[in-house]
Amino acid sequence: KKINLAVVGATGMVGRTFLKVLEERQLPIENFYVMASARSAGSTLKFNGKDYVVEELNEHSFDKPIDIALFSAGGGTSEKFAPIAAAHGCIVIDNSSQWRMDPAVPLIVPEVNPEDISWHKNIIANPNCSTIQAMVALKPLDDKYKIKRVVYSTYQAVSGAGVAGWKDLENGMKGEAPKKFPHPIASNCLPHIDSFLDNGYTKEEMKMVNETRKILHNDAMRVTATTVRVPVFDSHSESINVEFEKPFDLDELIEVLKNAPGVVVQNDSAHNEYPMAVTAAGKDEVFIGRIRRDESVENGVNLWVVADNIRKGAATNAVQIAEEIIKAMNE
Ligand code: A2P
Repeated sequence: KKINLAVVGATGMVGRTFLKVLEERQLPIENFYVMASARSAGSTLKFNGKDYVVEELNEHSFDKPIDIALFSAGGGTSEKFAPIAAAHGCIVIDNSSQWRMDPAVPLIVPEVNPEDISWHKNIIANPNCSTIQAMVALKPLDDKYKIKRVVYSTYQAVSGAGVAGWKDLENGMKGEAPKKFPHPIASNCLPHIDSFLDNGYTKEEMKMVNETRKILHNDAMRVTATTVRVPVFDSHSESINVEFEKPFDLDELIEVLKNAPGVVVQNDSAHNEYPMAVTAAGKDEVFIGRIRRDESVENGVNLWVVADNIRKGAATNAVQIAEEIIKAMNE
C-alpha cells in the first residue's frame, strides 16, 4: 500500500534532506505534501523530478488524509501542530525536542529500540542528533557488557543550528559578525549549544543525558556531557568514554561493534584511519574508531564516534522510523 506523506519544515536544513532521503530510499508515496511557514508558502521544491508547491502550515493542513508527517520546523511548531495532526489520525515523526521526554511518546533509533514504536499514540520522537549516533554505538556494548557510566564530549557541526548556523560559519570565515551564535564560530569553539539551565549544563547536554537513559531503558545510568559547537559544516564528532559493569576483551568489543547494525568501524591507527567529519558527511552510517581501553578504570573504553548530523542525526533516522511504520501497516 502506498501512503500519503507530508514534510513539515520542508524548506529547512533537515526538511530538504528529508526529501533527498525519501527519494533515495524510494518510500512508497501516493500523495506528497510540503509545508512550511507563510514566508516560503508558494515557493516550489523538487521531489522525484516533480515540482511541489510549499503550503503554509495551519490548523487545516491535516484535514486531508495524511498517513505520516515528518516534522522539523522547531519545537513551537511541533507543540502546536503535532497534536492536531495526531488527532486527525496522522502519525507524526517529530524531529524537535518538544515531545521526546513525554512518557507517552516513544523515542526511537530504529537500530536500537524499534520495539518501542508499537506503543505510539500517533506521535513518535526522533532523538537529538548527538544522542542518535551515540545510541547506535552504545546499544550493542550495553547489551554485552552492561554500561555503568558514560562521559560524552561533543564536537558539533554548525548545520545542527539550521540554515542560520551554517551562514554564521560561512560569513564568519569572510570576517562577518555572527547572527545566530552569541560569538564568532569561525576559528572558534563554543562550549554552548542551546540555552543554559539552572544546573550549569546546557539543554543540549541534558538532552544527551536524559535521552540516553530513555532509549536504553535505564533511568539509573550515570551519564554526563559537555557539548561544543566547532567550525565544521557537516557531521558531529563525539568522544565517548564508557565504563562497564562487566570485564571485556578489547578485540571482542571491536568485533561486537563491527557486527552492530548501522555501524562502520574505522580503527586502523597505523594507517591514520579513523572517523572524520569530512568522510562521514553525506553517509547514513555511524563511524567508530580510536577504540582503546581506558586504563584509568577497571572496565572502561574510549571511542571516537562520527556521523552526519543532518542525515543519521535527523532525516535518515526519521525516514527509517517511517519505514518501520509502513512495514507494520502492511503486515
Ligand atoms: P520557512 O522556510 O518558511 O521559514 P531551519 O532550522 O533549517 O532554518 O528550518 C526551519 C524550517 O521550519 C523551515 O522549513 C521553516 O520554514 C520552518 N518553520 C519555521 N517556523 C515555522 C512555522 N511557524 N510554521 C511552519 N513552518 C515553520
